[in-house]
Amino acid sequence: MRRRQNFGPFSEKVHGLLHGADYNPDQWLDRPEILEQDIDLMKQAGMNVMSVGIFSWAKLEPVEGHFEFDWLDQVLDRLHDTGIQVILATPSAARPVWMSRSYPEVLRMDEDRVRHLHGGRQNHCFTSPVYRAKVREIDRRLAERYGTHPAVIAWHVSNEFEGFGCHCPLCQEAFRNWLKKRYHNDLDALNHAWWTSFWSHTYQDWSEIESPSPIGEHEVHGLTLDWHRFVSDQTLDFMLEECRILRDITPELPLTTNFHDFVSLDRGLNYWDFAKALDVISWDNYPYWHAEGRTVAEEAARRAFIHDMNRSFKQGKPFLLMESSPSATNWQEVAKLRRPGMQNLSSIQAVAHGADTVQYFQWRKSLGSSEKFHGAVVDHYASPDTRVFREVAALGRELPAMTDIIGTSVAAEVAIIYDWENAWILGDTQGPRKEGIDYFDTCVRHYKALWDRGVAVDVIDADQDLSGYKLVIAPMLYMIRDGFGAKVEEYVRNGGHFVTTYWSGITDGTDLCFETGRPGPLRKVLGIWSEEIDVLYDSDANHVGGYEARIFCDLIHTEGADTLLTYDEDFYAGGPALTCNRFGKGEAWYIAFRSYDGFLSDFYGDRIRAYGIERALETDLPEGVTATIREDEVRRFCFLQNYSGTKQTVELPYPMQDLLSKDRVQRLVMAPYSYNILS
Ligand code: GAL
Repeated sequence: MRRRQNFGPFSEKVHGLLHGADYNPDQWLDRPEILEQDIDLMKQAGMNVMSVGIFSWAKLEPVEGHFEFDWLDQVLDRLHDTGIQVILATPSAARPVWMSRSYPEVLRMDEDRVRHLHGGRQNHCFTSPVYRAKVREIDRRLAERYGTHPAVIAWHVSNEFEGFGCHCPLCQEAFRNWLKKRYHNDLDALNHAWWTSFWSHTYQDWSEIESPSPIGEHEVHGLTLDWHRFVSDQTLDFMLEECRILRDITPELPLTTNFHDFVSLDRGLNYWDFAKALDVISWDNYPYWHAEGRTVAEEAARRAFIHDMNRSFKQGKPFLLMESSPSATNWQEVAKLRRPGMQNLSSIQAVAHGADTVQYFQWRKSLGSSEKFHGAVVDHYASPDTRVFREVAALGRELPAMTDIIGTSVAAEVAIIYDWENAWILGDTQGPRKEGIDYFDTCVRHYKALWDRGVAVDVIDADQDLSGYKLVIAPMLYMIRDGFGAKVEEYVRNGGHFVTTYWSGITDGTDLCFETGRPGPLRKVLGIWSEEIDVLYDSDANHVGGYEARIFCDLIHTEGADTLLTYDEDFYAGGPALTCNRFGKGEAWYIAFRSYDGFLSDFYGDRIRAYGIERALETDLPEGVTATIREDEVRRFCFLQNYSGTKQTVELPYPMQDLLSKDRVQRLVMAPYSYNILS
């Protein structure tokens, strides 16, 4: 959507790009000198914001009903004195021990119906009335006390709502009520939607319905799908209770919650629903840089995809990079150190895709407990003379030069559909292969062909408006909910270009298979019928016009579409593998096979040229280098990023001003893992 809009800063109190971290002064209350040392180091690192209080409940309410805020008063006052702003968290992501002991119902019950013990954060029940009441109480007190504190610029609601359902009796009851509402109290409708006549699953009474266990192996996929939906809705309902209290007392303070990157695992909650309740989106980005079996550029495309999704949640509104590790994490299988330059390139990538902040987890390493070896700006030996600190401080010195970027956004002409419900059901469904469905990775593979060419992309779900895009790509859209087929038809009829692939249009919104021939509601617009799908072993390949076809080979018939490529081998040799249907003023493409080689790159290269899709720079970028534009009606910034690991030269189509060096440049020699911002 060519939305060249200036969204402005997310809060009136914000005047520059924010640079900060999660800060846990509550771990150091017996050492007052640490706060002073931290403030001094924050200044040296060019920090202007801290996220405070995320897991502090035990220090705020050490004994039930006894609240202690003096320490937080002091921290906020001191930060304010030195010009550091605060994103204040509600502490609902971890609760004090007394609460778990006095009210065991606050603890989550796993799918095997075993209740957690105290000892893990974020392991509570989102239904528990006791937990909700306790959260409302502490939130109310925080809002009343700090809502007008001059340091506080926004609320950080809880921490990383994740999507682990609780299976306790309270949640079972809530699930049944949720189902009654969804199926309008009609148990027959539920039985039909879930196809429970299969293997004697028919329910005679609502009380017989239980949450699925084990979730991934339950036979009734409609039940599993609705359980995912319920967990998402119930978690949202919990968050909304927090939001209501905060909004009532402090209507002027923007609300956010830090989204997890569970999307990369095809798990988690439907954040599209959460986004509606928030004033600004924020997310926690933990890339696997320098990982085995994946190039840095491939990882960069995965990260860019999620950044773009977070920007798309609010139709282009800039988001906050709430967390990112300034060094290695303590939880990745192999926590490799960032190579020089990588840290700041990673931070600038977020800004390039629409972040107005660069924030880290964490400011200072704890001396003990599970995150003591997680990367931090300040190490146990709190010296500013470390590689990590120096690199962070270098970015801190650069960010003020980027103030003008605030509020600008990315104007994408292409959208890729990544749909959460589709991800859940693809994860649970059985067939046609057990492994290797790889929905997220498939979407990213399509995305990367555009990323390589500096084409801006929005990442949306199937419920969003398509009309502003020149090209909409929906890889593996297995589930087609009501209305989507008609929406695509209208979009293409009016001149839109739609691309979808094998394993699309298989089931409806309740996971019942279409009886109208695959790809169901997309059959007409695509002008094809998919009769069967062949799946290949990992080492197998078919061939299609010089490209390899791997894993999925859909056996289709054309019904009006033109065949552009055919299979070379096997009993379906000569059958269509790539088709295009002219429909109204537009085109609908069907890619019947999966490919890991250059096919997607060539295919999208042709589409970009044919549809006149704008690239960030009208020049060929070296491999591993990408370019992104942030702009509004008057400003335009081009971010060049080199993920190749080697030196690269980029010839610009015309001279531009380098925002950081202030030089006018036309030929850029980029060091490994470096960036340039041009205006
Ligand atoms: C995030 C979480 C942080 C911290 C971080 C470590 O998921 O929000 O509190 O634990 O992971 O990488």
